[in-house]
Amino acid sequence: MRAKDYSATETLRDGRTVEIRALRPEDRAGLLAAVGRSSDKSLYRRFFGFKRGFTDQEVDFYINVDFVDHVALVALLEEDGRPVIVGGSRYVVGVPGQAEVAFAVDDAHQGQGIGTALMRHLVALARDGGLRELVADVLPGNTAMLKVFGTSGLVSTTRQEPDAIHVVLQLA
Ligand SMILES: CC(C)(COP(=O)(O)OP(=O)(O)OC[C@H]1O[C@@H](n2cnc3c(N)ncnc32)[C@H](O)[C@@H]1OP(=O)(O)O)[C@@H](O)C(=O)NCCC(=O)NCCS
Repeated sequence: MRAKDYSATETLRDGRTVEIRALRPEDRAGLLAAVGRSSDKSLYRRFFGFKRGFTDQEVDFYINVDFVDHVALVALLEEDGRPVIVGGSRYVVGVPGQAEVAFAVDDAHQGQGIGTALMRHLVALARDGGLRELVADVLPGNTAMLKVFGTSGLVSTTRQEPDAIHVVLQLA
């Protein structure tokens, strides 16, 4: 399956089914709605600052992914009979072979395994893409993100920096 056509389903802790699939251009409104439902704390942890509004250029960056150097997945749950984006993960290649990862799940759906599922599928795509390492900066106290990395099965190293924990995960 090509990365841009990626789709998989997972069962969450509460028994619900979540679809994890490649981000599509038509997801713009759904992605912004998920951001709109997220708390200041979650947005701070994702963007390292109080961020609620985005310029069109910023949204374009998040939506127009090439599925080579920038790969993005969304998690969808069925709500009132229609699929709703409740989270997403992405990686952006920096230096060759290494990509920075980022995750977000809206507050109402955290703690049910969606972040862990997004990680599993993002790792599969990163491996398919021939990457060697994933890196992330995590704010101190962000136990959920550190747990998602810790249970990924990947060998990891962490380095405490002044404002964040720098995590390096080995894919190879
Ligand atoms: C980090 C994040 C993506 C994890 O997604 P998630 O769907 O909540 O993750 P999971 O449900 O797979 O949970 C992973 C672990 O974290 C724990 N966890 C989830 N939310 C938590 C919280 N608010 N506080 C403490 N632990 C939490 C879960 O219990 C689970 O641990 P367990 O397996 O020991 O039970 C999500 O919490 C989030 O969007 N946070 C805000 C944005 C952010 O921090 N992004 C990361 C920037 S790099």
